Amino acid sequence: MLLHIPGLFSREEVVRIRVALEQAEWADGKITAGFQSAKAKHNLQLSEGHPLAVEVGTALVERLWANPLFMSAALPRKIFPPLLNCYTTGSSFDFHIDNAVRQARGNPERVRTDLSSTVFFSDPDEYDGGELEIQDTFGTRSIKLPAGDMLLYPSTSLHKVNAVTRGARYASFFWTQSLVREDSQRALLFEMDSALQQLTQDVPNHPSLIQLTGTYHNLLRRWVEV
Ligand code: NI
Repeated sequence: MLLHIPGLFSREEVVRIRVALEQAEWADGKITAGFQSAKAKHNLQLSEGHPLAVEVGTALVERLWANPLFMSAALPRKIFPPLLNCYTTGSSFDFHIDNAVRQARGNPERVRTDLSSTVFFSDPDEYDGGELEIQDTFGTRSIKLPAGDMLLYPSTSLHKVNAVTRGARYASFFWTQSLVREDSQRALLFEMDSALQQLTQDVPNHPSLIQLTGTYHNLLRRWVEV
């Protein structure tokens, strides 16, 4: 399941973050790539623990834990500290699947990568190329979102970032370990939760809501890993 989560950062916040990103010192993106994906990865990245990455990442993670759409779709258990990258003209990241397990520098805790996320900090009209292409069960999707918005997708999917041919594409990326490992199970729970929330608004006193909500939790209980 691919999900667009809008408005994690306001226009004003995006402008302020962009000024800081444009002045930052960037390193080769291969620093966090695995052996295989290093061959495909040609972009720039802020080093782990860079003050700007920590500041933006901390704000982002705080918002995610309070975002009903993310909570319902990702059912997060752990979120890897977000990283920041930049694709300038000529940069790209060819098809790959993200490493299964991630460990942030200086942190013994490991994160199984069930879900991948990209938060855009450049608007689509600021660069050409640079689409995030994801192969899923419905074929290949090509995605560019407004600055401040996020795309959530299963880490099991093959994906790439097309070469940027004009301008620069700034983004944050990170991984989430979910309470529910399987994408198909998370998708089913998300659909059920969305329908329940709609029914709660439309027919708040319907007695079946109690039973359906219970069924949601009983399904979650079957699949949850804590
Ligand atoms: Ni990737």
